[in-house]
Amino acid sequence: MAFKELVFSGVQPTGNLHLGNYLGAIVKFVELQKSHQCIYCVVDMHAITQPHNPADLVANIREVTAAFIACGIDPKQHIVFNQSQVAEHAELAWVFNCVARMGWLNRMTQFKEKAGKDRENASIGLYDYPVLMAADILVYRATHVPVGEDQKQHLELARDIAQKFNNDFAESIAARGFGEGFFPLPEPLIQGPATRVMSLRDGSKKMSKSDASDYSRINLSDDADAIAQKVRKAKTDPEPLPSELAGLDKRPEAANLVGIFAALNGTSKDQVLTDFGGGQFSQFKAALVDLAVAKLGPIGAEMKKLSADHAYIDAVLRDGSDRARAIAAPNMKAVKEIIGFLS
Ligand code: TYM
Repeated sequence: MAFKELVFSGVQPTGNLHLGNYLGAIVKFVELQKSHQCIYCVVDMHAITQPHNPADLVANIREVTAAFIACGIDPKQHIVFNQSQVAEHAELAWVFNCVARMGWLNRMTQFKEKAGKDRENASIGLYDYPVLMAADILVYRATHVPVGEDQKQHLELARDIAQKFNNDFAESIAARGFGEGFFPLPEPLIQGPATRVMSLRDGSKKMSKSDASDYSRINLSDDADAIAQKVRKAKTDPEPLPSELAGLDKRPEAANLVGIFAALNGTSKDQVLTDFGGGQFSQFKAALVDLAVAKLGPIGAEMKKLSADHAYIDAVLRDGSDRARAIAAPNMKAVKEIIGFLS
C-alpha cells in the first residue's frame, strides 16, 4: 500500500539547543517544508526520562518552539506542537510496549550512554524512550524522519516495531481494508556535511547539550561575541588545511570545522577545501566566525524575542496540538480496532 508522504521529527526541550541540533536536524526541517507536509514536535515527555526541574522544562518548551519559528518553520502551513498535549502518543506507546522485544531495547546504545554505570537506577522511561519515539512517528503514520546520525538506531527500532505490528495483526489489518500494512516503515533522512557535529573541544565527542564545558558547543542563543570566542578557541592541529577530503582523515577537529562551515554555507566539504585548502587555520577560523555570526546571530535574537512572548508561543502550541490530535485520533482508533479493543 502506498502511504501519503508525511514528515515528522522531534527535539527535546532539555536546554541549550546547539549547532548540532541546528545543522543535523532543524535546517533540514526548514528545507522539507518546501516539498512535504511536516509535523514538528517538542518532545516534552521524552524530557522527563531524566531528572528535571519543572520551571526549567516550561521555559525550555517555549524556547524550542521559539527556535523552530526563528529558524524558519512556519507553524501555520505545518504543525508545531508539544507532545504531552496529544495523549495518543502515550496511548500508542503502550501498545508498542507490547510489540517491541526486550532484546531489541537491550541493544540501544543511547540508553547505555545515558544510563552510565548506574543502570539499576535509570528510570524505566529512559529505557523505554525509543518505544515512545516510534509511537511519536507512527501515530501520524509518518513516512520520513529528518534526524542527526545519533538517532539512526532509534529509527531502525521504529521500523522493526512497525513491521512486527503489521505482521502480528496482518489478518485484522487486511479485514479492515488497510491492505498489507497499517504502518509505513519510516525512512530516516540523514544527509549533508553535518549529520554528526562534534564538540569544539574534542573532535572525538559529539556536540551535546549535556557537556559540562560551554566552550564545547555553540548555542543557538549565543550572541556574536560568544560565537566568535568559541570558534577562535576551538581545538585544531598545527597543520594547514588540506586541499582534498582525504587529507582530513585522522584530523577530527579539522574535519568537524570544515563540515560546520560547509553546512552553514550550504555547500560541500570539497568546496570548502577548494576555497581554503593550503591556508592557515587562523584565516579559516576568521571566515567561519563571520559566517556563523551572520547565520546564527539573527536566529538567536529572534529566539529571545519570541520566547518572551508566552501568549503567542502558547497559542501556537495549542493550535498545533489540536491539528496534530485531529490526525492522531483516527489512527489510534483504528489501532484499537485492529488489536481487538472495544471503542
Ligand atoms: P535531541 O533533542 O537529542 O536532538 C534533536 C535533533 O538534533 C540532532 N542532533 C545532532 N545532529 C548532529 N550533530 C549533533 N551533535 C547532534 N546532536 C543532536 C538529533 O539527531 C535530533 O535529530 N530522540 C530525539 C527526539 C525525538 C524524535 C522523535 C526525533 C523524540 N521523538 C521522533 C525524531 C522522531 C532526540 O533526543 O533528539
